Amino acid sequence: MHEEKVEKILKEALARIKPSKEEIEKETGQVDEIVRRLERIVPRDVEIRVVGSLVHGTNLRGSSDIDVFLLFDKKKGKKEITKEGLNYAKKIIGKGDDYEIKYAEHPYLRAYLYSLGVEADIVPAYKIENIEEMATAVDRSPLHTEFVLSHLSEKEKDEVRLLKFFLKNHSLYGAEVYTGGFSGYLCELLVYQFGSFYSVLKFFAEAKLPIVVEPKSKELNKNIELVKKFGSKFVVVDPVDPDRNVAAPVSMESLARFTLLARSFIAKPSKSLFYGKGFSREEAISGLNAFLRTAGFHVFVMVTKLPKKSEDITWPQLRKTAEIIKEFASTYSYNFELTIPVVFEDKGIMLFVSRELQSKSRIMKGPSVFMKTASDLFLKRHKKAIATFLKDDILFAIEPNRFKSAEELLRFVARGGLRNRRKDVMLKGAKLYVDKVPEDYVDIVYGELRKKFLNL
Ligand code: CTP
Ligand code: MG
Repeated sequence: MHEEKVEKILKEALARIKPSKEEIEKETGQVDEIVRRLERIVPRDVEIRVVGSLVHGTNLRGSSDIDVFLLFDKKKGKKEITKEGLNYAKKIIGKGDDYEIKYAEHPYLRAYLYSLGVEADIVPAYKIENIEEMATAVDRSPLHTEFVLSHLSEKEKDEVRLLKFFLKNHSLYGAEVYTGGFSGYLCELLVYQFGSFYSVLKFFAEAKLPIVVEPKSKELNKNIELVKKFGSKFVVVDPVDPDRNVAAPVSMESLARFTLLARSFIAKPSKSLFYGKGFSREEAISGLNAFLRTAGFHVFVMVTKLPKKSEDITWPQLRKTAEIIKEFASTYSYNFELTIPVVFEDKGIMLFVSRELQSKSRIMKGPSVFMKTASDLFLKRHKKAIATFLKDDILFAIEPNRFKSAEELLRFVARGGLRNRRKDVMLKGAKLYVDKVPEDYVDIVYGELRKKFLNL
């Protein structure tokens, strides 16, 4: 009964996400055309290699980016190959097409080939036979392709698609910092290790930390010292590079959420759990209000402007800024239970969830009475305090609060009162909303809260 239900859900999902024969043919045609264009441009000694999920046979319908690598000889310098590589790549941009230079660990070109109807990433890298020769992080990709093509069966590739889709449905797919989720290659390795989508779930549903997976030998939780080596409690060793933990981008929270989802799906498989529940605007608004009322929480929404840069650059700055504001608030006795940074188009949104709204005073912690000099100084400095008191031997002073409410404090921040060295996040002129979310941001704010509060 149980197995039948799972099978039915997965079969139906696969039919939705697996590209059809025609689609694959069309994609292959597009890839061939890109390769043909590049062949006309690049010299003989530069090898053109298509990598990524499209050639792995693990791509999802409709979300195919084409990853094309230009492989240079190791004798050339890094600067040289980037410059040459990007120049060649630009030459395949036709009339009406567009492109953008992207910076990962290493610059590459994203081509918007509207005339062909596809997007392609053209990445300069080095031609390497084995991992010892690796000079840039992307040099591994062709080796990943070789591994996947020689180790995964057609059935397993479909299982990868299911895993990627399931993760996508729960915003857990992607190794970008702001997702902190599972990359496509990690999904490929997990399916290879455990055999199927369902066995991956079964493993995580029961797993204890630390988790150490070595797909190359299929060892599981054997070499626990790898936890130290990689400084992470979730290790999946790259079979083509023993020095790389493919699971490094997965945040602890993402891993925990995945584990809870795996347990729920195994206990009671359902379509709504597999696909993740969507929500209407009305549900979002009433859900948000009900949550705030019942929990006695308040939500402050601070909206700042962001420059046109990739989220990989702006999101970490926004997160850091939110942490600094949280720190600042706590010194005035406003404790935010949660701070959530969200990048939405050209806006940096920071959500602060708090229980305290007003606080006439702030409490300042001092030293132990038995540290004489420090103790004397603290008492002198807080002579005019509303009160001083002891907790065991530790001194505290209650001082009038400069900010009579959390709102006042955040308004001060939005006036540019707090210095922020994160230069892409302009606090001055930020907009602040208290317990109400502007129309434009309801979906995104509610979506983020729902990620945090699992059963909202
Ligand atoms: N890659 C990686 N680690 C990452 C991101 C990418 O090793 N965090 C490498 C892998 O070799 C991967 C290739 O870059 O196969 C292409 O990356 P990407 O397009 O991000 O992933 P795909 O596996 O192609 O998956 P998707 O279907 O999402 O495009
Ligand atoms: Mg890809």
